[in-house]
Amino acid sequence: MNDTFLKACRGEKTDYTPIWMMRQAGRYLPEYQKVRGSVSFLELCKRPELCVEVTLQPVDLLGMDAAILFSDILIPIEAMGAALEFHEGHGPILPDRIRSSEAIDRLNVPDPDEATGFVMETIRLLRRELKVPLIGFAGAPFTCATYLIEGGSSKTFWETKKLMYTQPEVFGSLMEKITRTTLGYLLAQARAGAQTLMLFDSWAGILAPCDFERFALPYVREIITGLQQTGLPVIYFANNGATLLDLSVTSGADVIGLDWRINIGDAVRRVGRKAVQGNLDPFALLLPREELRRRIQGILEGARDAFGHIFNLGHGIHQFTPPEQARIAVEAVHELSSRSAAA
Ligand code: CP3
Repeated sequence: MNDTFLKACRGEKTDYTPIWMMRQAGRYLPEYQKVRGSVSFLELCKRPELCVEVTLQPVDLLGMDAAILFSDILIPIEAMGAALEFHEGHGPILPDRIRSSEAIDRLNVPDPDEATGFVMETIRLLRRELKVPLIGFAGAPFTCATYLIEGGSSKTFWETKKLMYTQPEVFGSLMEKITRTTLGYLLAQARAGAQTLMLFDSWAGILAPCDFERFALPYVREIITGLQQTGLPVIYFANNGATLLDLSVTSGADVIGLDWRINIGDAVRRVGRKAVQGNLDPFALLLPREELRRRIQGILEGARDAFGHIFNLGHGIHQFTPPEQARIAVEAVHELSSRSAAA
């Protein structure tokens, strides 16, 4: 078992810097496209043997140091009773648009093993196959709430902010329900065999720091506190979160995910005795090989004094990225980080 990734999460010495990429299983891989050719995205998420196959693809093909469970942050949200659809090229649609206390009352806090047993089965199957650690994940409550309230993705988040500012107690009751669901869901993933747990807060960056502190962070903290009993490292990633970094550090997470908008050296100084994960601009994978290697070298140097560093992109890999470029990045991180360890 290659446990370099787990060691880096815990701030232990490693022989090289481990790397994985957010959204590493997905459409940029022809091997994924082939599987997706015969099933819809939602169906794929509910077929453990296919989830295992696509989870393993980037690990086997590109040499990633960690695997991330193939699923979606909206899977447990659907299990709460919200309708969920994916339309080709449009992203998720949640037609129920949860905006009233009556609508919130109709949502339930599902038993994760019953309602999302296919996820737990995927994890059990993966643990038999994998020689690198397995990351389980969920969406952070605020990000999940935006999808439920808006009914999908949004540009302005008007409805979310309207509910938050005009009916804070209704917004809070939705957040509490999502929080209980998410904690139960992640505890079930831990029981099934996940070795690290990650919370994706993709839309945290739309909030002012004071609103993040009031409307999002307390729920993240509650989940992370509840996960302490598992003993597993927890990663918290707030996308577009540079202005929220000092608050994110108080979330209780062991690892702080960084997008590319912040200098990693500055982030390391502010994060202190916690590992960091990041932070190459996903589009920088398009750079010519030597320039890409220099960019990677810069990030490795910036993170030299980090408590722990897991190399990653600053957000998900773009669907039109040539897989060969991702492979060059993996190789560069491995080579350049072991060289600097020897120096
Ligand atoms: O490899 C991995 O990282 C694991 C799988 C994974 C997916 N979604 C698969 C997926 C993970 C960790 C996610 C998380 C997720 N899902 C997030 C948080 C991370 C982020 O990107 O900010 C969010 C916001 C979602 C919701 C979601 N799912 C959106 C907005 C979309 C459409 C975007 C797009 O790229 O089209 C999805 C669909 C989705 N989730 C795909 C994949 C591989 C594409 C589906 C397809 O095959 O057509």
